[in-house]
Amino acid sequence: MRVVRLVDELRAVLDEHRRNGLSVGLVPTMGALHAGHLSLVRRARHSSDVVVVSVFVNPRQFGEGEDFERYPRDTEGDLELLEGERADVAFLPSVDHMYPPGATVGVTAGSIGDRFEGADRPGHFDGVCTVVTKLFNIVEPDFAVFGQKDAQQVAVVKRLVNDLDFAIELDVAPIVREGDGLAMSSRNVYLTAEQRDQALALSRSLEVGRDAFDQSDDLQIAEKTMLEHLRNAVGVDVAYAAAVDPDTFEAPLPGGAVLLIVAARVGQTRLIDNLLIVRTDGRGD
Ligand code: PAJ
Repeated sequence: MRVVRLVDELRAVLDEHRRNGLSVGLVPTMGALHAGHLSLVRRARHSSDVVVVSVFVNPRQFGEGEDFERYPRDTEGDLELLEGERADVAFLPSVDHMYPPGATVGVTAGSIGDRFEGADRPGHFDGVCTVVTKLFNIVEPDFAVFGQKDAQQVAVVKRLVNDLDFAIELDVAPIVREGDGLAMSSRNVYLTAEQRDQALALSRSLEVGRDAFDQSDDLQIAEKTMLEHLRNAVGVDVAYAAAVDPDTFEAPLPGGAVLLIVAARVGQTRLIDNLLIVRTDGRGD
């Protein structure tokens, strides 16, 4: 595996692969890699000849007072895991290399970036759009893999690719969970043993929300059930629990796809989770 820190070097490496007719897949990450990230690398391995994994903790997507400084970083561990997955290139740019002094231009997400995660974290999705655009321009991948764990990010990146005409095929990987249902996240390392147990309220709230929807066919009842579950959970401070259209993050269309989304703070740690409801009966809501 080649470890690259500079844009020009990465372009030279990839140009040569492309001249040889090889396809390129990109997996953008912020490192502190876990099995969720590695499942994305595996998917890229299937779709692409050359797999590039970027590891970059992007300051522009962190708000003031958020955890940019203390976000977990483990370059050595990450590189070992990526070797194990037979990634071809690890791209590890520095902050100054990605955003040299004087860099002012960015990409904005628009209204889809103002709801839910975007409402709680102003500017977050603009930062995501900017870094993903830069990575797309640097790597020029044929494929890019994102995780359903960050469902609103998936919706935003789909808009980015459509709205700015990137000729890139997106692949969305399912959420990888711990045995007890907790969605894997780099931020789970912040949790104490007690908080780790309390954090299960997120995935459980999605399950009770889905069951309530199955029984009632009523989105409001599903939302209320999730909220109640989270409000009753010890040590959990709920940010939102909602049923949305997975593409727009607005209210689901009658009979259309429904995504249950939750966000909550456990101690100081903000966690998110989601569950797609598959409607098999074709009924509206
Ligand atoms: P990060 O949180 O490191 O996640 C990188 C990718 O891994 C994202 O596409 C995310 O959805 C996916 N992922 C994380 N946990 C997962 C899980 N349990 N199961 C499946 N996929 C999972 O998301 C980001 O970084 C950044 O916003 C980034 C896109 C790299 C831009 O900076």
